[in-house]
Amino acid sequence: MRLETVAVRSGRNPAVAYGVDAGIPHVPSIDLSTTYGFRNSAAIADSMDALLEGEADAPNSVYARLHNPTVAGFESALAALEHADASVAFASGMAAITALLMVATSPNDDERYPHVVGVRPMYGGTDHLLSSGLLGTTVSWTTPDRVGESIRADTGLVFLEAPANPTLTMIDIRGVVAQANEAGSRLGRAVPVAVDSTFATPVLQTPLACGAAFAVHSATKFLGGHGDAMGGVVATSDSWARRLRQVRMITGGVLHPLAGYLLHRGLQTLPLRVRAQQTSAETIAERLKGHSGVLSVHYPGLSGDARERRLLVTQQRGPGSVLAFRVGGGASRAARVIESLQLITRAVSLGSVDTLIQAPALLTHRVVDHRDRAEAGVPDDLLRLSVGLEAVDDLWADLDRALGLADQSAA
Ligand SMILES: Cc1ncc(COP(=O)(O)O)c(C=O)c1O
Repeated sequence: MRLETVAVRSGRNPAVAYGVDAGIPHVPSIDLSTTYGFRNSAAIADSMDALLEGEADAPNSVYARLHNPTVAGFESALAALEHADASVAFASGMAAITALLMVATSPNDDERYPHVVGVRPMYGGTDHLLSSGLLGTTVSWTTPDRVGESIRADTGLVFLEAPANPTLTMIDIRGVVAQANEAGSRLGRAVPVAVDSTFATPVLQTPLACGAAFAVHSATKFLGGHGDAMGGVVATSDSWARRLRQVRMITGGVLHPLAGYLLHRGLQTLPLRVRAQQTSAETIAERLKGHSGVLSVHYPGLSGDARERRLLVTQQRGPGSVLAFRVGGGASRAARVIESLQLITRAVSLGSVDTLIQAPALLTHRVVDHRDRAEAGVPDDLLRLSVGLEAVDDLWADLDRALGLADQSAA
């Protein structure tokens, strides 16, 4: 089936939850139970054993931290879109990344690989989680072409974002996977690659098809798409998914079923939203490029780099709807520009139907040391714009006026 059909139809299997003769609901049901009654002790023990083993479901859900049917519907829909065996959903993107780090650095009870190879830039929260070593991990930061030489005997994971937040840098996933595989044959075990694909969504990129072991999303962004549900999800193989469910069960970062319902609903319009927002972003990126008040524009569709242009065809199915641009004049001009906007919402987050703007150095990447930030290409005058579904000319009028006003107020 084609992407649009999968987006609308997948993860709806009410016959499983309600029985084939039960009057099948038109939309997935929201199951808010925190616990599930049972009649037979032997049968509930079997369900408990299956869930403890990391099975995707069991005849009795037992307890909401172990399994929830509404969340399971979202998970199977997202797995279908990512061409993955399974996906495991969490309370937020950061909860998903936390579980992923725990699982990859401790793939079973006997092995520990606490070292992670990270490619900067990435979302400030993820950068901070890795840099702080909060989970007992260590990190080596490197560039995409030097991943192989950074992999050590104790490396459990290579983690990258494609495209990267906030610079929109495109990374050759297949190239990174090839380096990890080569290092893996040296070490006699696989070194998995995780790709945070939040900016691309499964509409524009499927990391598992490029050899990655994990595709990660902050579902809070495009997957939900309306800014009203927080969540995170990891799409992967059956065996990794089992381990992720076990970690989720122990650490408790579960997705709430109301959010699971909203995220599942969001998937149905994901292809339409992503493509419509992308069309507007392409126009805005072009116009910003020609604007005298803008130093540079970061957008995959505008990249002059031959390698990136190739990735736009071989890895991505479009440039997406997030872009970044430098306004010059440091943090003060960045603040003047965004404070002069009247329509576009000044806020962190992205991928919503409404257009959002923020300065990464001020907010999303504030937690990253300023020297590391500058080295990763995130100067104080960089603004990140997530283009929504408003009329493109209204958005442009707002941006153009704000860029002009910011100049006047400086004069
Ligand atoms: C690329 C990326 N990954 C992960 C996260 C974290 O997701 P959440 O805010 O849902 O925890 C974010 C948040 O902005 C992000 O932009």
